[in-house]
Amino acid sequence: MSNLYSPSIEAQATELLSKMTLNEKLGQLSQVSGRGAQIPSELADGIRQGRVSSVLNEVDLDIVNELQRIAVEESRLGIPLLIGRDVIHGFKTIFPIPLGQAATWSPDIVEKGARVAALESARVGVNWTFAPMIDIARDPRWGRIAESLGEDPFLCGQLGEAMVKGFQTDDLSSVGSIASCAKHFVGYGASESGRDYNTANIPENELRNVYLPPFHVAAKAGAASFMASFSDLNGVPASGNQWLMKQVLREEWQYQGFVVSDWDSIKDLQVHGLSASQKDSAYLAAKAGVDMEMVSTCYIDNLGELIASKQIDEIEVDTMVLNILKAKYALGLFVNPFTDPSSLPDALNSNHLEDAKEAAQKSCVLLQNNNHILPISKQATKRIAVLGPMANDGYEQLGTWIFDGEEKDSVTCLDGLRALAGDNIEIDFMPVLANSRDHDTQHFDKALDLTNSADIAILFLGEESILSGEAHSRSNIDLPGAQAKLIEHLYASSTPIVLVILAGRPLTIQPILNKVDSILYAWHPGTMGGPAIAELLFGDACPSGKLPVSFPRVVGQIPIYYAQKNTGRPAAEHSYVYMDDVPQRAAQTSLGMASTHLDTHFTPLYPFGFGMSYANFAYEQVEISSQSIKIGETFKVSLRLENHSNIDAEEVVQLYVRDLVGSVTRPVKQLKGFKRVHVKAHSQEHISFEMHTDDLAFYDIRNQLNVEAGDFMLGVGSDSSVELTLAFTLTN
Ligand code: BGC
Repeated sequence: MSNLYSPSIEAQATELLSKMTLNEKLGQLSQVSGRGAQIPSELADGIRQGRVSSVLNEVDLDIVNELQRIAVEESRLGIPLLIGRDVIHGFKTIFPIPLGQAATWSPDIVEKGARVAALESARVGVNWTFAPMIDIARDPRWGRIAESLGEDPFLCGQLGEAMVKGFQTDDLSSVGSIASCAKHFVGYGASESGRDYNTANIPENELRNVYLPPFHVAAKAGAASFMASFSDLNGVPASGNQWLMKQVLREEWQYQGFVVSDWDSIKDLQVHGLSASQKDSAYLAAKAGVDMEMVSTCYIDNLGELIASKQIDEIEVDTMVLNILKAKYALGLFVNPFTDPSSLPDALNSNHLEDAKEAAQKSCVLLQNNNHILPISKQATKRIAVLGPMANDGYEQLGTWIFDGEEKDSVTCLDGLRALAGDNIEIDFMPVLANSRDHDTQHFDKALDLTNSADIAILFLGEESILSGEAHSRSNIDLPGAQAKLIEHLYASSTPIVLVILAGRPLTIQPILNKVDSILYAWHPGTMGGPAIAELLFGDACPSGKLPVSFPRVVGQIPIYYAQKNTGRPAAEHSYVYMDDVPQRAAQTSLGMASTHLDTHFTPLYPFGFGMSYANFAYEQVEISSQSIKIGETFKVSLRLENHSNIDAEEVVQLYVRDLVGSVTRPVKQLKGFKRVHVKAHSQEHISFEMHTDDLAFYDIRNQLNVEAGDFMLGVGSDSSVELTLAFTLTN
């Protein structure tokens, strides 16, 4: 890994460290929570005494500047503060939830989103965000899937890197750059049954091949900090996990940034049952190499004693302090800790809103479009019924983790449709249900009347923001409340129905597929969701989002993801028997003897990478430059993408590989490349992927990163169900 910090930063931090008392050192390991509109005297005193390194959740500019002033002018050594905030998908201009951003499959769009978030939050003095969240998420019951970049290590790594770049730029010290934090290291997404904060049991090989890679990418991209996960990882919670923090992160990856705990996660080591006291917790976390403690006070209360009793060497604490000081130098805080908002663009300016609209638009995934009901023709339509609790709710479209985004700045779907429809189309609006969880069916008949008298009905359903995010897991991920019943009720109408779903996770929508004509999955699209969606519905823009996560048919299929192992008895169409078709008293061995459920098909409802377009793309001449490639060499995969339609559109071209035999079994498919490509109507683009055999490396039976010789299959297409038709061999 290249050096994160210049020799001069190293020297300055070391010089400062040499002047610090033990108490001042311990202060640098401590992060405290701010209190909003005032500065409590204990916080001001703590900063004066050098007992506070970082404050989180303080976003009042004057207060932040005053906190910095106290730190640099009134503390003995004048060390500035890190001001941390969860700027997860925007600050004032809210972008789609990260899972939605991942559906753009566009590192450029994701980088722009992080850039806007950095610029807007830096205006109030935030210099450190707790993002990107790059936990591999394969369980839509888990509320935090909304904050994730989906199920795939490659996609997640590419987009996570883009976020790091967007937040930090190439120069952390420049105005408007903020430090990023790769979280939650590691395995949080594997929480048992999707219950938040739960245990993660992940074999080391799986950790190295699936969960760790995005973090390794973030480390290489220069993420200034990492956050330890809450989870119990294979029996040792991450905040006390020496193997993870010392061996993998520091020794193998040579990571030079600093590690922060999660909120109280050092204190929680005792709750986990890993330690018997807060002192033990401090000992374990410090030994693991967690540099800064978020909110709880195990370090500041106990490390002094642990050093006095020689259980911890002061040199270990010095290393932790240095890691933090270097980030402060790199951010330029010693040169100028104060924020002058006039040096930064206004929040919610038109460029930021335009970027947010583009992100929302390209995140929407068209899942179904029977009879080409979409796009809606402005000429042929006189009356539209706009129904549902998510149609005109500026708050609920923002999604989870929007501490600073405001409902008043949102443009709702109804606003967006009205603005585009003009005077020729009449729009009848009715929320029908008070919110997504409402069970009251009293307005259903009126909704049916409106549907009957319209040329088309657009139904905005889904999940409110509070139903996903931290501590908001669900065991049943159907549409909540009476929403499915509403669809059922409107099915009586012959008017075509378009369903737009705004939600923080994949929902199990199989039961309602046949009751609507078209389905657009819009996630929680953020401030500009309304205009983005309206343009898609009216055909001013073409849907191009692709699922960053597989959609299960029923909750019992979870976990279901495309990069599964083949097993010894893979499911197959020809041998699949559905439960109702099993003859009574059938012999034990008469069924397919394959890895399937009797009561649901073995494929997901929609595969990873899936998303339709109004255009019609064809993949032609998919070719590989050589069928026999020596390990260490490069090769090229090329194709021609044709747009056989009369509209300009974007397609996300996806390249998948299967390694047929390995020293550990390999997934049936792995994403190894993708490109978002614009193709004009009735024209074509030549696309190529430059590959290196290193792209096919994996952690082998010895848990070493290795490229193994052997046979592979490759395919390029529009989603992960693509057939792998090109064979090639890697040779030594
Ligand atoms: C979450 C983190 C977040 C932190 C600070 C914790 O509860 O797990 O993701 O960054 O709080 O708000």
